[in-house]
Amino acid sequence: MAAPQTFSLLALTLSLLALASTVHSHNITQILADNPEYSSFNSYLSQTKLADEINSRSTITLLVLNNGAMASLAGKHPLSVIKNALSLLVLLDYYDPQKLHKISDGTVLTTTLYQTTGNAPGNLGFVNITDLKGGKVGFGSAASGSKLDSSYTKSVKQIPYNISVLEIDAPIISPGLLTAPAPSAAVSNLTGLLEKAGCKTFAGLLVSSGVLKTYESTIEKGLTVFAPNDEAFKDDDVPDLTKLTQAEVVSLLEYHALAEYKPKGSLKTNKNKISTLATNGAGKYDLTTSTSGDEVVLHTGIAPSRLADTVLDATPVVIFTVDKVLLPPELFGNATSPAPAPAPVTAPTPSPAEGPSPTAASPPAPPTDESPESSPSDSPVGSANSKSANAAVAVSSPSLFAALVTLVAVAVSVSL
Ligand SMILES: *[C@@H]1O[C@H](CO)[C@@H](O)[C@H](O)[C@H]1NC(C)=O
Ligand SMILES: *[C@@H]1O[C@H](CO)[C@@H](O)[C@H](O)[C@H]1NC(C)=O
Ligand SMILES: *[C@@H]1O[C@H](CO)[C@@H](O)[C@H](O)[C@H]1NC(C)=O
Ligand SMILES: *[C@@H]1O[C@H](CO)[C@@H](O)[C@H](O)[C@H]1NC(C)=O
Ligand SMILES: *[C@@H]1O[C@H](CO)[C@@H](O)[C@H](O)[C@H]1NC(C)=O
Repeated sequence: MAAPQTFSLLALTLSLLALASTVHSHNITQILADNPEYSSFNSYLSQTKLADEINSRSTITLLVLNNGAMASLAGKHPLSVIKNALSLLVLLDYYDPQKLHKISDGTVLTTTLYQTTGNAPGNLGFVNITDLKGGKVGFGSAASGSKLDSSYTKSVKQIPYNISVLEIDAPIISPGLLTAPAPSAAVSNLTGLLEKAGCKTFAGLLVSSGVLKTYESTIEKGLTVFAPNDEAFKDDDVPDLTKLTQAEVVSLLEYHALAEYKPKGSLKTNKNKISTLATNGAGKYDLTTSTSGDEVVLHTGIAPSRLADTVLDATPVVIFTVDKVLLPPELFGNATSPAPAPAPVTAPTPSPAEGPSPTAASPPAPPTDESPESSPSDSPVGSANSKSANAAVAVSSPSLFAALVTLVAVAVSVSL
């Protein structure tokens, strides 16, 4: 009698845990893979990493183009331009076919992902949806005087109220969208971009060390830069960089970039260790990430650093500012933390001394402020700023853990 109850409660606990870890789990690549007529659109969602951005959001509507309608964009523009055009098709609201036909006053302006990128001038990141006569629904740019050149054709998929996928018959083109200057112009002056973004010290180090050339050599394949702002270099937590050898300075600067395009949406959905340009072997000079709401925090194993602004997102190059110098343990592990345990990346396993069944038999250890994301060696160096970010990150796991402990305690008392 008692045992089955215990088991069912444990099963409930486990399923609650499973549920909690699968939140936001739609996979747009998978959804569209079931429909080969969207293969071109789907491929561009992956190339531009918009798929990650879409998967990291809920309450959205994606307007898709079939291969025929996609032909006017595909291969005809730089990837960065296609990314902007497709971002304008990601509506930050949930419209299923019913809601589409019930728009109050028959017309509405809705925000899109393009508006949130900072790439859209004025209100050009908004889309006009208008219920036309005869049950037709038209879409157009919100720019005044724009025509409603795209029409709703059919519903593809709905997961209420997380994501709705609707087909339209033509791209929505806002003024200037397709004639944006190619990013090569901006990217050809990386140091100029960094200086304008308040990262003069970092830009100067890139030039004097020669690491700028390493960054530039990977631009075509993809480049992600985490540029510490000038304030970050003045932080008390930053070790004396003049004590580093030339080779160490190179490693430190290479640690601030990736040889791949990882825009914010991809960092938000990232679950793996990320190799940097300094990575020279398994587990060396890598980074992990954690997310809290819209915020991304980078973890080196020594101190966390918050992703601050996106300076440039022009596929395949993205440049962020970060509010801390990223300190790799390979250079600073022993020098900066008094107890230099390399950050454990997985949750610690209970030691054998705790007995064979620590969760149910012995009272579990009280939840601590530490979560797998913010490792013990993360905390001592973090300043007030990053501590609040870190605290927000750490909340979810302990509360989940507390819930688990409570449920197990209930299970044990019921079985007694
Ligand atoms: C929809 O998203 C919410 C979180 O925003 C999540 O809890 C829920 O499980 C999702 N529903 C589906 C069907 O994926
Ligand atoms: C989404 O689905 C695609 C295609 O099945 C798969 O390759 C990809 O790994 C999935 N992404 C995630 C985040 O699960
Ligand atoms: C949407 O566009 C139509 C046609 O240009 C226009 O009449 C309508 O006022 C616009 N809707 C909004 C909300 O601006
Ligand atoms: C790069 O940009 C900076 C700042 O905008 C500017 O001063 C510099 O002249 C530019 N360099 C080149 C080669 O265009
Ligand atoms: C720290 O020092 C120990 C012993 O001096 C060394 O084995 C280890 O590799 C060092 N750790 C790092 C991250 O440099």
